Order: sequence, then structure tokens, then C-alpha cells
Amino acid sequence: MEPDIDLTKPSAARVYDYYLGGAHNFAVDREMAEQAIAMWPEVPLIMQANRAFLRRAVEFCAAAGIDQFLDLGSGIPTVGNVHEVALARNPDARVVYVDNDPVAAAYSRTILDGDPRTAVVREDLRDPEKVLNSPEVTDLLDLSRPVAVMTVAVLHFVDDPAPVIAAYRDAVVPGSHLVVSHATRDGQRAQADEHQDLYRRRTATPMTMRTKAQVEALFAGFDLVEPGVVHLPLWRPASPDDVDGRPERFAGLAAVGRKVP
Ligand SMILES: C[S@@+](CC[C@H](N)C(=O)[O-])C[C@H]1O[C@@H](n2cnc3c(N)ncnc32)[C@H](O)[C@@H]1O
Repeated sequence: MEPDIDLTKPSAARVYDYYLGGAHNFAVDREMAEQAIAMWPEVPLIMQANRAFLRRAVEFCAAAGIDQFLDLGSGIPTVGNVHEVALARNPDARVVYVDNDPVAAAYSRTILDGDPRTAVVREDLRDPEKVLNSPEVTDLLDLSRPVAVMTVAVLHFVDDPAPVIAAYRDAVVPGSHLVVSHATRDGQRAQADEHQDLYRRRTATPMTMRTKAQVEALFAGFDLVEPGVVHLPLWRPASPDDVDGRPERFAGLAAVGRKVP
């Protein structure tokens, strides 16, 4: 275990792992997750919809010829990790995982150990210069070729994401992709507000939900691919049956953009 794990406070990474049915969480995380679920029973379903979006987005990028992935706020590895989806399509793909949570970074290293096509950086994504100049990124990714910058279910933990995203955008070449999913209050106000309050009170990573317009604004310098910024299940569903009758109950927005020349 890395030395600075705080067992007195729930961590967003471990709480999310619990929602997804993972085993890398502690009592304090489970207790908070159960509190969130009691207030909002659909929370685990929303997280599963987020994870399903992540897989579809990686498949989309891979089909567009992207073979390098920079996964910011990658979380504790669970089923359908970026490298599994990317390598299934292209065995030469490269994936760098970045997370500032010690459990996420340590467990990612354990499961990736020995695979030279992947690497883990324990770093704060809000410091793009450090992330981009880390030996893992400079060794594994060739930034003179297109890359997918993934920010899935993480920017709601960042106070002012626009300049951060702009720094990553400026570091990658046209044709690179930006993948975003983001918590929103659009369509789910009361429960989303309670959920946001819970993270603010209990964790070291308060959450800021954003509107569709605010998420769209993150794509400055990118062309949004169809269908633009939509609720999670509506982003290129694998089959029409996957689309819920009330997609807004999945309180997350999703989008992919392609950097313009
Ligand atoms: C909800 S999880 C999402 C995991 C994965 N991207 C997914 O969607 O399945 C959010 C992750 O972002 C990480 N995170 C939050 N703020 C971060 C920051 N400033 N820098 C790096 N990672 C961060 C947390 O530790 C957590 O693992």
C-alpha cells in the first residue's frame, strides 16, 4: 500500500469502485456510497452507464485510427479498462493512465505490470506540464501523432477545467480526440444537489456539476462528433434497446470531439 492513504475520508476513486461492484474500497468508502445510494438509488446505474460510455468512446476513437490514449483520472481498474478495449482492436495501441489517488495508481500498476504498451502516472491532471513531461508519457506516447485525451467522470472534481483542457489540447496535434463525461444537474436537480453536497462534506474532492453549455465550452478548438453533448446512454448507443426511456435520469453528459487543424 502506498503510504499516504487516508482511511478516515472516503475517496472518490474507491467510492466509484464500490458503485461498480469492485473490491478496492474500505469501510469508510462503502458507508458513504451506501448513504449516496439511499439518497439516490440510481447512482450505481449511472456509474455503469458512464463506464459503458467509456468503452464505446474508446472503440470509437480506435475505429477512427487513434492508437494512443492518455486517460486522465483513470480510476481503479475495473472491467473494460481503456487498454483492454484499445488493445483488443489494435495490439500496438499505447495507454497511459493518470490518477492522483494512491490506491488507483498502485492497483493500476499491479494489473498492468510487465505490459510495455501501458504505463501509470500518479499525478494531478491539473498540472498538464508535469503529466505531459512525465517519463511515462514521453516514453510511451508520440505527441507528434494523434492521441485520445480521456477525461471520463473526472472534470466535475476540477474547479476550473477550461484552462486545463486547453493545455492538453495545445499539446496534441489536429486529429487528436477529447473524450469527456461529466456529472450534471440537467434533468435531475434535487437528487444531484444532495449528491453534490455529500461529496463536498465527506471527501477531499468536492464535486461541481455542470450544464450542457458548460460541457460544450470545454470543446473549444475541437469539432464535436455526432451526436454532440448528450446524456450518457444517448452517446452512440450500441443498440437502440440500450437507450432508456428517460435518459436524463442518468445525470451525466458525454461527448467526443476531434481537434481541428
Ligand atoms: C469517478 S472516477 C472515474 C474513473 C474512470 N475515468 C471512469 O470513468 O470509469 C474519478 C477518478 O478521477 C480521479 N481524480 C480526481 N481528481 C483528480 C485530479 N485532480 N488528478 C488526477 N485524478 C483525479 C479520482 O481519483 C478517481 O479515480
